[in-house]
Amino acid sequence: MANTKPSIRKLGGYATYNEFVLPLNDVYVMLTRFANQVAIVTGGADGIGKAIAKRIATEGATIALFDINHVQLERTVADFTRQGFAVTGHVVDISQESSVEKAVQTVAETAGRLDIIVNSAGIVGPTSTKITDYSVADYDRVYHTNLRGAFLMTKYGIKAMEHRNYGRILHLASIAGKEGNPYMTGYSSMKAGVIGLVKGIGKEYAETGITVNGLALLLSKRL
Ligand SMILES: NC(=O)c1ccc[n+]([C@@H]2O[C@H](COP(=O)([O-])OP(=O)(O)OC[C@H]3O[C@@H](n4cnc5c(N)ncnc54)[C@H](O)[C@@H]3O)[C@@H](O)[C@H]2O)c1
Repeated sequence: MANTKPSIRKLGGYATYNEFVLPLNDVYVMLTRFANQVAIVTGGADGIGKAIAKRIATEGATIALFDINHVQLERTVADFTRQGFAVTGHVVDISQESSVEKAVQTVAETAGRLDIIVNSAGIVGPTSTKITDYSVADYDRVYHTNLRGAFLMTKYGIKAMEHRNYGRILHLASIAGKEGNPYMTGYSSMKAGVIGLVKGIGKEYAETGITVNGLALLLSKRL
């Protein structure tokens, strides 16, 4: 991933957006789609969360990165700040209720709004492990981050969004949850749980301005 803002060059009714030539209006939309909006990205210090946070910031949002890894978080915040993005970093373990509640409230109250949550924080846990060898401790650990964390981010996110009747929540689920990956008992179970959470809460809020969605990713190379 390039560590710079997109390079834009105007060419009459068109513009180059990095290497792509697009109609000028499309480029305008891409640069302003999230203008004035506030987004929380969990797991935003690294990997897919970092890439999504960068894209949302490029399109105008103020971003708050939640991550348990304070060293990587500091690095990413410094990197994004250097690039001119409006970013804050928050050391949060998304499996801890008080930590999630406080951090979500802080972001929403400081900015006066919360528009977007992308919940990308996740762990894989044991792989290539038969269920008969899979420890309860590992199962609980994967549950805490992947499912309890998704529940807490949704609960406190919606609490902060409800008064404006607007919000967009996206969870990074996995094909492991949709189809079931063998030898990854915890991961497959919890990502299936995330899909159930998304479907249930999506329906609960279907008649409001708050949407809850999930993305069942297959496999991405390291970004
Ligand atoms: N990479 C893939 O191929 C793939 C495929 C399917 C689904 N997914 C899902 O996408 C999401 C992102 O994956 P990735 O490959 O970018 O992972 P990654 O390991 O690169 O990044 C995950 C980030 O989450 C943070 N994190 C972990 N536990 C946390 C916690 N309890 N609280 C707060 N932050 C925590 C980590 O510190 C890290 O910065 C995950 O939920 C993963 O399950 C990834």
